[in-house]
Amino acid sequence: MEHKAQEHQAFWWQQAVIYQIFPRSFKDSTGDGIGDLAGIITKLDYLTWLGVDALWISPIYPSPMVDFGYDISDFTGIDPIFGDLATFDVLVVQAHQRNLKVIMDYVPNHTSDLHPWFLESHSSRHNPKRDWYVWTEPMPDGSPPNNWLGSWGGSAWECDDTTSQYYLHSYHKAMPDLNWRNPAVKNAMLDVVRFWLDRGVDGIRIDSAQRFMKDPQLRDNPPNPNPKVTAYKPLGDYDAQLHLHDKGHDDIHTVYRELRTLLDAYSPQAPRVALGELHIFDWQEWTRYYGAQLDELHMPLNFGLIGVPWKAKAVRQLVDAIEAALMPDAWPNYVLGNHDETRVATRLGSKQARVGMMLLLTLRGTPMLYYGDEIGMHNLAIPSQYVQDPWERNLPGMGFGRDPERSPMPWDGGPNAGFCPSAAEPWLPIPDDYLQLNVATQRKDEHSMLSLTLALLKLRRATQALTLGSYVPIEGVPEECFLYIRQLGRQKYLIALNFSSSEQQIQLSEMGSGRVLLSTHLDREEPSDLASFYLRADEGCVIEQQDTM
Ligand code: GLC
Repeated sequence: MEHKAQEHQAFWWQQAVIYQIFPRSFKDSTGDGIGDLAGIITKLDYLTWLGVDALWISPIYPSPMVDFGYDISDFTGIDPIFGDLATFDVLVVQAHQRNLKVIMDYVPNHTSDLHPWFLESHSSRHNPKRDWYVWTEPMPDGSPPNNWLGSWGGSAWECDDTTSQYYLHSYHKAMPDLNWRNPAVKNAMLDVVRFWLDRGVDGIRIDSAQRFMKDPQLRDNPPNPNPKVTAYKPLGDYDAQLHLHDKGHDDIHTVYRELRTLLDAYSPQAPRVALGELHIFDWQEWTRYYGAQLDELHMPLNFGLIGVPWKAKAVRQLVDAIEAALMPDAWPNYVLGNHDETRVATRLGSKQARVGMMLLLTLRGTPMLYYGDEIGMHNLAIPSQYVQDPWERNLPGMGFGRDPERSPMPWDGGPNAGFCPSAAEPWLPIPDDYLQLNVATQRKDEHSMLSLTLALLKLRRATQALTLGSYVPIEGVPEECFLYIRQLGRQKYLIALNFSSSEQQIQLSEMGSGRVLLSTHLDREEPSDLASFYLRADEGCVIEQQDTM
């Protein structure tokens, strides 16, 4: 489908760059070695300087921290590790004063097993909250009721010996799944959304957004005929099944319509946004989460760039497929890194990470930028005694661990990289190359990754074509290159990206001349003749074009 440039007034979230903070690792203000809200507040000026528009903060709720905050024991509080509600309120006010929006992580699929709801539910078959979770009888031989698997290994069912029933946990057994078919659960969880809207948040990022409605008959998943073919990344035994019944049941769309009605009605003058974490790579299926009338999620998150082979052709095909699948007015978004994925600079190498950053910040759609990617942080090798992630602990040595991409943000070359006071022990090791790779050093280096990110964000902010313009890929370019035009009215920009480590010649005589505004090498601003234009190894350029129309 061809998408015209956005002609009507755009919503804030369509023009925004969303910056994800993993709060444990951002900035510690209390000296316990764990980042916190007061730490984030001290860095709001940095984020304003950088030029992002919204913060999505991974969970900060009270939690036993089995899954570092995604196991929540109180949906309407703040864990003391991170601060308290009063500090949260200050954060929202101070962010808003700087025109930064705040997006909360919202975890509908499960709670902690220490959540009071589960403690009640677990206590007896007859407890009024029994049906708030998914409990069911064992098979006649006592085995789990079906073949569903937990994402981090083993069965998704745990037997409770006292009441002789199984409960469902799509992840860790300490994270039981809520039963959204119980209207009381749905109402309680929608009240949670209202609670945070009342505190001024501008949106929610919905965790595991496809999970919370499963097959009501709890049917077995069928085997996967191609377990080795993954659209994303290998997930071990989990890939042995087609996950048809343990998530994404059709009635999830009814819930999303209800959620959208709530958000739309809440404050039409200050629209709140819903993003959903969806690992769906069939783009037709993925678009269903926008809703047939664009009445569900504002942005089902798009993880296509994470799993795609880093080749110009494959990336272009991916972007074209997404553009083709989108209904008019459905707004795209792109994710290049997050707290669950290998760091971009490790996946692509630090040279191509710069090309990746230019791609992310110039495609049509809202970019999601993970903390530290702006300085090119890479995965940290975690010695086994420091392993924290429950996935790695459940299935050690298979490469599933997520600690490597969650290391503390290196702010400067001082003790503990300026992340926490010198006497504190950081919860994960400080990156060993922090003396070279840190914010303060990169701020002073006009060719650094941070300077590139800053320049791209500045250009993007100053150039409506890069946010709201149309996207048109260019044919007839070398196989190692991906070129596209972003255009809005008379503003026309050519993005030229070289995915290879050798020089490439672009010959687009019909495109006339232009001006290189920005190179990923940060060393040229000059007129360009597109009849013969050279992209150096690992170089991307934004070229302003004269409109010949
Ligand atoms: C999502 C989160 C991940 C978490 C899981 C369970 O995938 O991004 O970090 O472990 O959900 O909540």
